[in-house]
This record gives sequence, structure tokens and C-alpha cells, in this order.
Amino acid sequence: MDSCRLLVVSNRLPTSITRNGEQSWSTKISGGGLVSALLGVKNEETKWIGWAGLEVKDEIGQKSLTNVLAEKRCIPVFLDNDTTDKYYNGYCNCIIWPILHYLGIPQDDCFAKNGTYKAQYDAYKKANKAFADVIMEHYREGDIIWIHDYHLMLLPKYLKDRNSNMKIGFFLHTTFPPSEIWRTLPEGPELLRSLLASDMIGLHTYDLVRHFVSTCSNILGLESTPKGIVDQGKLTRISAFPIGIDADNFINTVQTSEVKMEMKRLKEKFGGRKIILGVERLDTIKGIPHKILAFERFLEENPEWRDKVVLVEIGVPSRSDVPEYQKLKIQIHELVSRVNGRFGTFHQVPIHHLDQSVNFPTLCALYAVSDVALITSLRDGMNLVSYEYVASQTTNKGVLILSEVAGAAQCLGAGAILVNPWNTPDIAASISRALTMPAKEREKRHQHNLAYVKSYTAQEWANDNLRCIHETIAEAQIPKQL
Ligand code: G6P
Repeated sequence: MDSCRLLVVSNRLPTSITRNGEQSWSTKISGGGLVSALLGVKNEETKWIGWAGLEVKDEIGQKSLTNVLAEKRCIPVFLDNDTTDKYYNGYCNCIIWPILHYLGIPQDDCFAKNGTYKAQYDAYKKANKAFADVIMEHYREGDIIWIHDYHLMLLPKYLKDRNSNMKIGFFLHTTFPPSEIWRTLPEGPELLRSLLASDMIGLHTYDLVRHFVSTCSNILGLESTPKGIVDQGKLTRISAFPIGIDADNFINTVQTSEVKMEMKRLKEKFGGRKIILGVERLDTIKGIPHKILAFERFLEENPEWRDKVVLVEIGVPSRSDVPEYQKLKIQIHELVSRVNGRFGTFHQVPIHHLDQSVNFPTLCALYAVSDVALITSLRDGMNLVSYEYVASQTTNKGVLILSEVAGAAQCLGAGAILVNPWNTPDIAASISRALTMPAKEREKRHQHNLAYVKSYTAQEWANDNLRCIHETIAEAQIPKQL
């Protein structure tokens, strides 16, 4: 692969930022698949462009933060609070996110709270233009622009309109629905056209590639070929790249004395009960109510387990200004309270629930001590929690119960117990099966999953994506034979 400069563009920067004074800032590196993937990209000089994550109105502040971030090879995009609210809380997370996950557009208070539909889309355009302005300021001929996720779907077109030579890759980190769902989005055709201004579009799985390609054919009437979509003679390559994790980071962290101490504390705390773990962002797509209902059914049907098992459910706060997320939190609290009220005793409750994030060593310890991971997403681009769980299971060889409609089911399906998240009795039976699974079978399933998680890592994913972007660009430069 030739060496060249890579400009990674995503809504969030890989650092979270706090302002301490007029020109004083603290920054903290955030985790996540994309960050570890890009740390492993060797050949390219990389810069990362993203929203600063907070409003900085004054010029002095903007300049000093820009300087601080430059040392970390990051470039901030500044958005005011009103734009952020309508763009991020509004159009991105009230409109596109549910459509991408087959849920449809909510009709009620989303618009009252985060601005009218038109105001939200205008803010989406404004934010995408602000990203385009910053990229144009930093762009040098030959750079590759790699855009990430649904927040920036208009960006490929805005950039190509300004410089048609730009080389652009786009990766969608979510699912993509069948065309009849995408059709309900009023701006659907405009967003597709913009995405197709990219040279290559990556999605997690072949099913998603199929949905995307057939949506372009059905809605825009474009020709599809085995490589992608052709529009007026220009090919946009569409390919599948299932993302992974930095498995070694988890494998090594569970061996540290800090994590081992925490594992001991957790085991003592739960007093020898089997631990079923749920950990996810508090999001409507994660199927948390479905999981609690299934666990309740399991306790109803298996009274002998009631004082021998605990569901540890960590709901990491997310997008808490969006009404759908606020409603979900209340719904989960009601369900947890009902199950604990029904099946708890003076000494213990069956669900240990937190509305908090946990630090990395504690997360690794939780993964490592759990006997079962229960993932019931209603739709999920990939679901890396399932990978992190597998990588951390060095001693327990715990069982992964995984939603069959998460992208990860296509990679870890043979080692996991797959469930339909709407099939409550089946999930309840799967919990029972997981808790009583013979050690030999657990070991076999775990080894299968571990081999996958270790071999297809975040770094491999990034390298494969970039290789494909380079190939696509090189192919486009070969003069067409007459
Ligand atoms: C999903 C999206 C990411 C996003 C993450 C966290 O994984 O695909 O783009 O960064 O959720 O959500 P947030 O709204 O906090 O950025």
C-alpha cells in the first residue's frame, strides 16, 4: 500500500474535551473500535477531524483548543449548541438512527423538543457543511478522506462538489434497512446520492451491502454490478468489512492484578450466584426491555434458580436529551423494579441494574467473572460487546447468548446460542441451557469464537478497508479500453 495522508472524519473526535479556563483544556482519549483500529494503521499519516463535543464561542478558546488538539493529530469542528441539538439530538438520533435500525420515524415529541423536522434537517446540512469547510482548509492533493457514519451522509457530495478529484471512502457503522423502510425517509434519495459521491462505501456485512445496493436500484433506479453501483458511468464500490476489536487489549487486561482483585470482589459480592451480564448503551435498539422480560420468564419457569443467579445489567447513559431514550429509561426502571419486587428477598435481588458507565478494568472484570452474556439487540450493525466478552473469558469459558439480528451473529453464530429477541420463551429456555451447559461444550464454543475475535481484529478491519479504497482509486485511474 502506498504511503499517503489519511484524513479520518467522524462526528466525535477520539478524545473527550473539558474546558478548565479561557485557554486551559483537559483531553482524554476515548475507547472504541474505531480508535483502536486506527491506532493500528501503520502506513498512513493520519489526522482526525470531528466535532469538538462542546460549544466554544470565543475565538481565543477556539484557537487554543485547536492548538492543543493539533498535538494529538486532531482537528476540531465547532458547532453552536442550537445546531448541535437539532443536528445530533434531532435529525441524527431522532430520524436517521431509527430508520437505519428499521424502527421508523417517531411521530410525536421528538419535533417539539429538538426542533421541527425542517429545522432538524437544515441543521444536519449546516453541520455537514461545517465539516466540509474544515476539511477543505486542511486538504492537500492526494489525501484520502475516510468518512464515518450516519451523521455525515451529506459530506461526500459537499466535498466532491468543491473538488471532484478528492478520494473518498465512507463507512457506515450501523445497519442499513431494506429499501421499503428507507423509502419512508423524505430525504432518503438525497442522502443516497450524496453517499454515492464516495469512491467506496463499506458496511459491516453482506446482508447490509445487499440492502444498500437494492435500495439504490429500487429508489434511484441505478444499475448494480457485482462490485457496486454505477451512476452515469461512475462506479461506487460497495463492500462488506465486519469490524473487530483490539482483542489483545482485553486478553492482557484481564491478566492484570487490578482486574484480578476486582474479579475477586465481584465474586464475593454476588455470593457464588451465577452471573448473567448485560452491558450496552441505553438505546432503544439494544432490546433491554426484551432481555428483562425474558429473564423474568426464566425466573417464573425455573424457581430453583431464583436465589442462584443474578442479571447484572449496565445501561450506559446515551443520548439522554432525545425523548425516545428518556422514555426507554423509565420503562427499564419499571421493569427492573417489577422483577426485583416479584423475585427478590430481604437478602438479594435478581437484577443488579446500573444507569452508569463502568471504568475499563471493572468492565473487563465483569466480563471475566460472568457465566453468560445476554445480548438481545433488536438490530445492531455489529455489537462489539459480544467480542469483548469472548476475549475476556480466559478462565470461565462463559456462554454467549446473542441476538440473531445483530451483525455479530454472522461472525460468532457457530459459537453462540442465537436467539430471536422477540421470542421471550426461547430466550428464557436459552438462559437455562446456557447455565447448565457442560464444560466441554462451553469450551468448544468459546474456542471457536475466540479464534474469530483474535484473527479478525479492528486493525485488520481498518487495513482491509483502506486497501480496498486504494484499489478502487487505482482502478478508476486506469484509462478505459475502447
Ligand atoms: C454507535 C454509532 C457511533 C456512535 C456510538 C455512540 O455505535 O454508530 O457513530 O459514536 O453509537 O453514540 P454517540 O451518540 O454517543 O456518539
